[in-house]
Amino acid sequence: MGSLRTQVGIVGAGPAGLLLGHLLHLNGIDSIIVESRSREYVIDRVRAGVLEQGTVDLLMAMGVGAGLERRGLRHDGLFISFRGRRHHIDMADLTGGKAITVYGQNEVVKDLIESRIATTRPLYFDAEHVSFSAVDSSSPIIRFRHGGVDREIHCDFVAGCDGFHGICRPSIPNGVLATYERVYPFGWLGILAEAAPSSDELVYTCHERGFALFSMRSPTITRLYCQVPPDESIDGWSDGAIWEEMLTRMTTSDGWKPNVGRIIQKGVTPMRSFVAAPMRHGRLFLAGDAAHIVPPTGAKGLNLAASDVLVLARAMKAFYERGRSDWLDEYSDVCVRRVWKAQRFSWWMTSTLHRFPDENAFDHQRQIADLDYLTSSRAAMTSLAEQYVGLAPEVSFESAGL
Ligand code: FAD
Ligand code: PHB
Repeated sequence: MGSLRTQVGIVGAGPAGLLLGHLLHLNGIDSIIVESRSREYVIDRVRAGVLEQGTVDLLMAMGVGAGLERRGLRHDGLFISFRGRRHHIDMADLTGGKAITVYGQNEVVKDLIESRIATTRPLYFDAEHVSFSAVDSSSPIIRFRHGGVDREIHCDFVAGCDGFHGICRPSIPNGVLATYERVYPFGWLGILAEAAPSSDELVYTCHERGFALFSMRSPTITRLYCQVPPDESIDGWSDGAIWEEMLTRMTTSDGWKPNVGRIIQKGVTPMRSFVAAPMRHGRLFLAGDAAHIVPPTGAKGLNLAASDVLVLARAMKAFYERGRSDWLDEYSDVCVRRVWKAQRFSWWMTSTLHRFPDENAFDHQRQIADLDYLTSSRAAMTSLAEQYVGLAPEVSFESAGL
């Protein structure tokens, strides 16, 4: 049995866990990260692409933004497309110069793993049977098996950064958390294709046949999504059928359409809105998807994870440096307010752009009027733009030691 000691035990090496580990490191706070998957699996998982202005600023301030600076694609605007026409929203103009950056989540995770390894602080991949106990005491214990050896980490705090399907949230006793959930009657079929992006900016499309989204990963890789039934099997979709559906939904009357290329990755993702609160039980703090899920239409999930751990790092810094626990006590309230604003925005983007199986002709005409208003009113475009580029950070970077 290997017995280890640290200040903060972090469960999960996704964006939340890795960012928290690095923020703590920058403040001289020790942590051990325990991840159930392999390093390759964590890096190869294709997910988010859009970083808010504040997330970009955070990564730069943390000194982990070199790859982002070199390969990230800054977008000052986006397109909303309906009735065969693309309408431009100039986000930078509407928000006093703010933008989003397209940089794959797997790139973010790869950069953060390299930074973690450079600090020489521990990160265990392929951890089996991860569990913990005594989070209601001042010395919780995380247990796991690694390389055939049972290990125990004695720590001051546990950070539950293990995503929606992790063990941390479900291990909180019944009755402690309130949960709020909406499951949508559709999912997204997503592909990566070897094709140069045919637009410099994202295109969100509401088509008679359903939602579609044009995005990208690099000057040679296009990322596309289209709305499908929630239980759709990817095996039923040939590459030819995927291209036909994507092109039908996205081609506009001026002839714009995505470039076609070899499909190198494809999958179907269900859509859900979920919040669990409070994001704390005793010495266990939940962060990121472990506490909340948003449908990807607003591109907020990874950004919320980054916001949570900034607030948590500030609270832990104050605890270790000044013996203050009031920021730990406020952690959940500060995060949950932002989470609900992101939930509202993601729900609104989702309901404005998707077709619902139970909608009637009235609902659809109202939806088109919503899009017409959105793309013709500066006030409405400003509202979308300021939420899409991201609301101001909940706490200052300085307060988290940056
Ligand atoms: P995760 O990334 O899920 O990481 C959790 C980690 O914990 C994983 O590595 C997991 O293997 C590990 N783990 C699980 N169980 C255990 C255990 N028992 N022990 C140890 N480790 C464990 N967000 C955006 O901001 N912008 C976007 O453009 C965007 N697009 C998206 C598109 C799609 C198709 C999808 C699916 C999501 C998208 N998101 C987007 C959401 C974003 O990917 C997530 O919100 C983000 O991954 C959350 O990070 P996390 O670290 O909280 O959780
Ligand atoms: C992506 O590029 O993967 C992406 C972009 C915008 C979204 C969701 C995903 O809203």
